Amino acid sequence: MDTKSIPVISHFEKSDEYRNTIHRLIPGGAHTYSKGDDQFPSMSPAAITHGKGAYCWDVDGNKFLDTLMGLTSVSLGHAYDEVNERVIREIHKGVNFSRPSVIEREMAEKFLSLVPQHDMIKYAKNGSVCTTAAVKLARAYTGRTLVARPIDHPFYSYDDWFIGSTACDSGIPDAFKQLTVTYQSDSLEALEKLFDQYPNQIACIISEPEKWNHLEPDFYQKAIDLAHKHGTLWIMDEMITGFKTDFPGSIRKFNAQPDMATWGKGIANGFSFCALTGKKEIMEYGGIQRVGQPKVFLVSTTHGGETHAIAAGLATIDVFEKNDVIGHNHSIGDYFMAGAKAIIERQQLSHVLSIGGFNWSSFLTVKNANGEIDFGLRTLFMQEMIKHGVLYQGILAPCFSHTKEDIDLMLYAFDAACTMMHKGLEDGYEKHLIGNSVIKPVFRKLN
Ligand SMILES: Cc1ncc(COP(=O)(O)O)c(C=O)c1O
Repeated sequence: MDTKSIPVISHFEKSDEYRNTIHRLIPGGAHTYSKGDDQFPSMSPAAITHGKGAYCWDVDGNKFLDTLMGLTSVSLGHAYDEVNERVIREIHKGVNFSRPSVIEREMAEKFLSLVPQHDMIKYAKNGSVCTTAAVKLARAYTGRTLVARPIDHPFYSYDDWFIGSTACDSGIPDAFKQLTVTYQSDSLEALEKLFDQYPNQIACIISEPEKWNHLEPDFYQKAIDLAHKHGTLWIMDEMITGFKTDFPGSIRKFNAQPDMATWGKGIANGFSFCALTGKKEIMEYGGIQRVGQPKVFLVSTTHGGETHAIAAGLATIDVFEKNDVIGHNHSIGDYFMAGAKAIIERQQLSHVLSIGGFNWSSFLTVKNANGEIDFGLRTLFMQEMIKHGVLYQGILAPCFSHTKEDIDLMLYAFDAACTMMHKGLEDGYEKHLIGNSVIKPVFRKLN
């Protein structure tokens, strides 16, 4: 790699102007908290104008290698031609009608052919809508009220049933907070204890199939079996794992038999198309053919059947079926993880930096010399990556457009950030951080 051609980016004037005005217009300045200014250093792009493949450009015209890819939703690449062409064809036919569009059945048949465990599917524009719908169905089906979720997993929905169980519970009535209980994700004993504590009360468990560590391949199914023994439904949230761990996701990898599964990020290359799949006897509760039975108002959204987003989903599935996208993305992830670990070792920073997770989504942990998680040092690390043209929040979610050359650039920046880490450890991060923005946890009690 010709490192002389790698720019050092230091101009963020238009970004600064954007940052200074946007909070007057939009609470949070963004539409997911993890895109917010409090998640980035001051020397960073505040807004993106466009993207192509694995790259994006900010308001100052700076070009960055993207590593989180639209919060992991862009599985093929930005403005991916095959997807966009299909979307544009659909747009020309109209995007929303007063009866369903035929593309809804086409997608249902296609998606369910990928998930033979499930018989029915419902669409939405957001993942939260799908997880909440799954919870509602589980309550209606079981007649129980409690929902259980892993305490060590960060996010399942912005709706009351979930966000009320986090530190960000302002605005959620206590009565709702009581209805969600938690357990440690990787422990069958913890799950067993939960069932002992709340006998016949838990309607469902919602859990991501893979999060932090590699678990035994049969762990997840054992957990599902345990839930079923207690009359509890299992919702597998494939929002992040879908189209990443495998195709269509961990449900296939583990041959798991959850009652429902939720899908979003990645299944439509960043377009707003999400889905809930499930077994017929449960999903039918949300239908209109159980004459004389209570009607569950499951998901009813004006934009849920928007045709071009569904078309994006169909085109994305097509690319995954015709190419080994999963294999490519995993090899990119492996290449980065091996390179980054080697740099950490060579730079003798193993006591403060580590790369964990998986080849489909690796994460960086930054600690200080006392072994504590350190957001100041993390911000400094990000600042240095961004300076070298890599928009890195500590997660690499590889997409089909990433190449090994892109990862070489990323590793070059990673090496530079490690060198800066030494300075931060020696003199304190404050001395090297430009501006006063230090990133904060997304899920916190106070602003
Ligand atoms: C595991 C998981 N489930 C659900 C959601 C909610 O998805 P959305 O942001 O599309 O509502 C997220 C979003 O980050 C997620 O990570």
